[in-house]
Amino acid sequence: MKSITEVSNLENKRVLLRLDLNVPIKNQEIQDETRILKILPIINFLIKKKAKIIIISHVGRPKGKIQKELSLMPICKNLGSKLNRDIELISKNIYELKKNDLFTSIDEEILFLENIRFYSEEEKNDDNFSKQLASLADLYVNDAFSCSHRAHASVCKITEFLPSYSGLQLDTEIQALKKVTSEIKKPITCIIGGSKISTKIGIIKNLIPKFDNIIIVGGMANNILEYNGHSIGKSIKEDNCKDVIDEIFKTSKKFNCSIFYPEDVVVGKNLTDTPRIKSLNEIENNDLILDIGPKTIEKIILIIESSKTLLWNGPAGYFENVNFANGSFEIAKKIVEKNKNNSIYSVAGGGDTIAVLNQIDALDKFNFVSTAGGAFLEYLEGKDLPGITALN
Ligand code: 3PG
Ligand code: MG
Repeated sequence: MKSITEVSNLENKRVLLRLDLNVPIKNQEIQDETRILKILPIINFLIKKKAKIIIISHVGRPKGKIQKELSLMPICKNLGSKLNRDIELISKNIYELKKNDLFTSIDEEILFLENIRFYSEEEKNDDNFSKQLASLADLYVNDAFSCSHRAHASVCKITEFLPSYSGLQLDTEIQALKKVTSEIKKPITCIIGGSKISTKIGIIKNLIPKFDNIIIVGGMANNILEYNGHSIGKSIKEDNCKDVIDEIFKTSKKFNCSIFYPEDVVVGKNLTDTPRIKSLNEIENNDLILDIGPKTIEKIILIIESSKTLLWNGPAGYFENVNFANGSFEIAKKIVEKNKNNSIYSVAGGGDTIAVLNQIDALDKFNFVSTAGGAFLEYLEGKDLPGITALN
């Protein structure tokens, strides 16, 4: 893998820069800027080298359709104000763009392409689409470690058509995760939560041999509760997970890894309802499980207390409403407390986990924070990430 820092002359070179600016947005407002802050170094580096930058990113999962509420406009504006520049967001169809039509004025340094997932070709890792993207630039930089587990056109296929390099943030993340995975002190615990059940549930089984404890919270925990015969009301869940969960429990016995999941929950009738603590057999048909309950928090705190290394991806509940953020906050606070007296090595990853940590000012109190969620977990699995393999 070659780093962009190894390229000697970038003056006037057009750089297609893949970033992960998939930040949480609510009513057109950015809820957490961390992913934007983390990529300022690569942009400043390229500006200093007098390169011309074409930013590619996605936000959300528009599935190949233009969705106004998933426009990158708020992110483009935010980045522009951080860099003290007017950055143009190009909404014109990518197939209609021509290299010579871009950067027509000499002082123009940065362009921003509209949400790349508005094109179905992106997720299909499409050849022609990648070629068209490549035709706009002289070289490609991936500074989106957090998307590198996706075999998508702007992460993967594109590297076949342009000289391709890793960016500064991607290099930092890989170095840090390499260090984490090679210097582990046991007992080691992994906390997995969040709402992307389909991305993560298959990963757990592969993590089991590497961990002493796996704590499952968030959306995936609902699947486990249902598997154990509890009603989960109208809570989020993934269909057809029985076999995966069977395997999780079987594998955990084989490798002597304790799997822990909620023993009580906090529910609401909707996302803005007042929170109610319930035991597992009190959950009603129209309840939504939105956080872990106090007994569960207490148990998790004990497990953290006994751990020497801790990796965390995915909030314990619907933290977007502070009434359901308590579980995530308590987990974070316990880790921070242990970190203070150096009795744990802690790593957190993922856009939403970062948002949780920022809300209680805990981001810099972990040993390392990765911007990546899914990619972070797949890296821990020991899997080759398509975006990284492509750079190699
Ligand atoms: C993330 O937020 O983890 C990345 O932006 C990837 O998003 P995805 O899970 O929708 O592919
Ligand atoms: Mg995310």
